[in-house]
Amino acid sequence: MKTLISTRSLESVESPFLAVLVSDNQAPLKDASLERAIASGDYKGKKDEALLVYGAPPGKAERILLVGIGKATEITRSSIRRGAAIAARRARSLGTKTVTIAVAKEARGGLGVAEIVQVAIEGAAQGGWQFTELKKQPEDPKPELESVEIVINKADKEDAEAGRRIGDAVAAGYLFTRNLQMQPGNLCTPTFLGEQARKLATTYKFGVTVLDLAQIKKEGMGALLAVAQGSAEEPRFIVLEYQGGTGAPVVLIGKGVTFDSGGISIKPAANMEDMKFDKSGATAVLGAFEVLGRLKPRINVVGLIPATENLPSGTAIKPGDVVKSHLGKTIEIINTDAEGRLILCDALSYARRFKPAAAIDAATLTGAVVVALGHHAIGLLGNDEALLAEVRDAGERAGERCWPLPLWDEYRELLKSDVADVKNSGGRAAGTIAGAWFLREFVDSFPWVHLDIAGTAYLEGEGPSHAKGPTAIGVRLFTEFLLKRAGAAGA
Ligand code: BES
Ligand code: MN
Ligand code: ZN
Repeated sequence: MKTLISTRSLESVESPFLAVLVSDNQAPLKDASLERAIASGDYKGKKDEALLVYGAPPGKAERILLVGIGKATEITRSSIRRGAAIAARRARSLGTKTVTIAVAKEARGGLGVAEIVQVAIEGAAQGGWQFTELKKQPEDPKPELESVEIVINKADKEDAEAGRRIGDAVAAGYLFTRNLQMQPGNLCTPTFLGEQARKLATTYKFGVTVLDLAQIKKEGMGALLAVAQGSAEEPRFIVLEYQGGTGAPVVLIGKGVTFDSGGISIKPAANMEDMKFDKSGATAVLGAFEVLGRLKPRINVVGLIPATENLPSGTAIKPGDVVKSHLGKTIEIINTDAEGRLILCDALSYARRFKPAAAIDAATLTGAVVVALGHHAIGLLGNDEALLAEVRDAGERAGERCWPLPLWDEYRELLKSDVADVKNSGGRAAGTIAGAWFLREFVDSFPWVHLDIAGTAYLEGEGPSHAKGPTAIGVRLFTEFLLKRAGAAGA
């Protein structure tokens, strides 16, 4: 997806498809058919309300789409991102290869030009996405959205280019992640994830280590090994290192279960295919590294990905088994479907060697977070109030909102085991909190935040700004977090 900045007037933009984000029912440019449509009063410019007209002279756009993004006083980065996504989705379904996007003056909500351009590009990447890679005969083949043009005032060109640089990088990371999420479990294995990390490392000169089965055994990651032992596919433990600054790194950790059947505590068959998305934390970390490689901010970042399948077999772990984790604590397996915390606890323990300034994990960890927050918020838990606030802020800027759940001491009781130091499931009550408490048992005195993305990693239906399927959740949040920490976009 190529992007460009245009400083032409809306009337002189030559485009097969010009979308203007508006906050009211004013015609934002001189065009006879647009003006007639607006004068009819049919169009109100409400949030998500779109109006398509075929441009008439003197305008040079073939099609003009107005996209309502809500009241002028309530406009945020998310409104613009969403409006741009609606525009790109429409362009995609019409089959125009280009979409030109402008934001009407009244619809800019006090946002800076750089951030408007950034989030408009992010939105276009979201709305233009389509996954046809594995179809030999696509029913209704439409061309890729090749280019996105953003129209701004001449005086704002420099700011716009700064925003474009970030927007382009985020869009690339986002699309990388979304495509990788979509890959089925037979293609996207732990080994495949390791290869993806190696490729990123080669392209952007990251440090990379991919531990294989023998090395994971040698490292003593007994909890990761316990999950992997039921599968014919070998696990991998991936370490990516980006050095852009000085000082202690931020460690990003992603759950990489390439398919979660539940294991011996097997899941029901309905929708089990969606459990290919159980690697979404891992793919978010990889996408964040794609962004880092492009933007090169002044910060050090380590990515850790424990990757495995979770399958039942004669060699699989069983309820009642006790395993020894990398940290040394013993774990009683109550439910083999609570596998995410098992692989993450070894990653959190491994993270100690980096003396993290902060560690953030992203994991499709619990069905309970869907019950609590639905599909609109990431469950946010952790051990450090300042870091929690910082991550939550990043989520707001990213349009990947987080909502806190408590990690009070009382909930620790849920994980008391009769035979081991801790058990891996506390039953149905407070499932998301119990999952986070389990992880906390393995966090050794560094600031840590856990993001439960089970409700937000993929969507079961489409919306006006979103196709069905994976969302690349986490890529934008990680990016916002890291850029803010780095100060500026850097070298
Ligand atoms: N991968 C699942 C969580 C999940 C649920 C992801 C829905 C995406 C959508 C996780 O491994 C899991 O199975 N969790 C169990 C934990 C329980 C056994 C303590 C759950 O939520 O039921
Ligand atoms: Mn599971
Ligand atoms: Zn899982």
